[in-house]
Amino acid sequence: MHASKEVTVALLGCGRFGQRHLEVLNRLPDVRVLVVADIDEPRAQQTAFRFGVPSFTADFREALAWPGVDVVDVCLPTFLHAQAVEGAARHGRHVFCEKPLALRAEDAQRAARACEDAGVKLQVGFCRRFDNGWLAAAEVIRSGALGRPVVWRHATGTSGAPQPWFFDRELGGGPFVDGAIHWYDFGRFLFGEVESVQAATRIMRPGRTAPDTGIVSVRFVSGDELQLMWSWGLPPGVKVDELHEVLGPEGALSMRPRQQDKISDAAVFVDHDHRKENGGHANGADPGNLGYLWLRRPGQTEAQPVVYQRNDMVEEELIAFVQAVREDRPTAVGGREAVAALQVAMAVLESGQTGRTVMFDEMTLPARSAK
Ligand SMILES: NC(=O)c1ccc[n+]([C@@H]2O[C@H](COP(=O)([O-])OP(=O)(O)OC[C@H]3O[C@@H](n4cnc5c(N)ncnc54)[C@H](O)[C@@H]3O)[C@@H](O)[C@H]2O)c1
Repeated sequence: MHASKEVTVALLGCGRFGQRHLEVLNRLPDVRVLVVADIDEPRAQQTAFRFGVPSFTADFREALAWPGVDVVDVCLPTFLHAQAVEGAARHGRHVFCEKPLALRAEDAQRAARACEDAGVKLQVGFCRRFDNGWLAAAEVIRSGALGRPVVWRHATGTSGAPQPWFFDRELGGGPFVDGAIHWYDFGRFLFGEVESVQAATRIMRPGRTAPDTGIVSVRFVSGDELQLMWSWGLPPGVKVDELHEVLGPEGALSMRPRQQDKISDAAVFVDHDHRKENGGHANGADPGNLGYLWLRRPGQTEAQPVVYQRNDMVEEELIAFVQAVREDRPTAVGGREAVAALQVAMAVLESGQTGRTVMFDEMTLPARSAK
């Protein structure tokens, strides 16, 4: 690392999320992007120009070896993640890699090991761990206000990710690998280890090789459960309602505001820590930019608002990663978590295919902790 504590970056993949990362990286103090890479060379060039990055290349391998780079930020399509991470580790670079780390748990584990063996840090893009809304929900659940165990359920139907590669089993894995992995990871973060997975999946739109629609239940050893009823199988522009809430024996928490919920100032149930801190918030979030969850308990005629400071979770996770690199501390969410979340995703695909419940004591892949 540089003596100045400046952190220098090579960013791979100038698509939708690569550009989102660049917007954030450009705002962070003492972070400098030295090179961007994209196989679409004009896109790499335009991206470098737009974000004031001095160099670009069409070959991501060249960017891995770029002189003076401390960290590699991998925003490539998912099928390239593991090889990019292993390459970065070989060059002694710390790595931030977008989720999922790979499309098979074995590949994720190999990539995590490569970082561990090279002594470089790995953080994986499980940004929900940095989302104040989800963290506020976790706080309510931990407080016991809903009772335990709980069922965290989410039903959604959309056309899903815009690029076709997301729906190919070998390139993106489909929504139950690519998107739902945020829920699997957050579920493990909140509830602990997984006990079993059950899924019924199908391909709704032709030409796809990964399931785009289905129902998933992930049960945790704690007794808590995650229930997802998801589709990325709708045609573009067709929208349906979304349901996102946590149910418990003592109450329910709505994760989405509803029109009929009126805010009564007298009844703020949780004043989330982030709100109090927010005088000089690291990401400059507007302290007036509040979000609300809604708590319903017996004997109360009105839902109680749970207030949190809305934040930019991608900015928070990148700040945390840069800090870990600068201060030589472990990253907040690394290879071990990435492998474990992918094991859940693999179990979902397997159960969806076979109709069997996958018990987690059947999953034997050992997960070593990654730095
Ligand atoms: N954390 C989140 O919530 C979140 C949200 C969106 C996307 N993502 C993840 O980010 C990753 C990228 O997603 P995206 O939406 O930006 O995809 P995208 O298709 O928009 O961008 C990918 C880019 O990589 C480039 N590329 C493809 N092959 C390449 C190669 N061999 N060498 C160099 N460049 C190559 C493409 O030209 C494209 O510009 C995915 O893994 C996705 O799952 C995460």
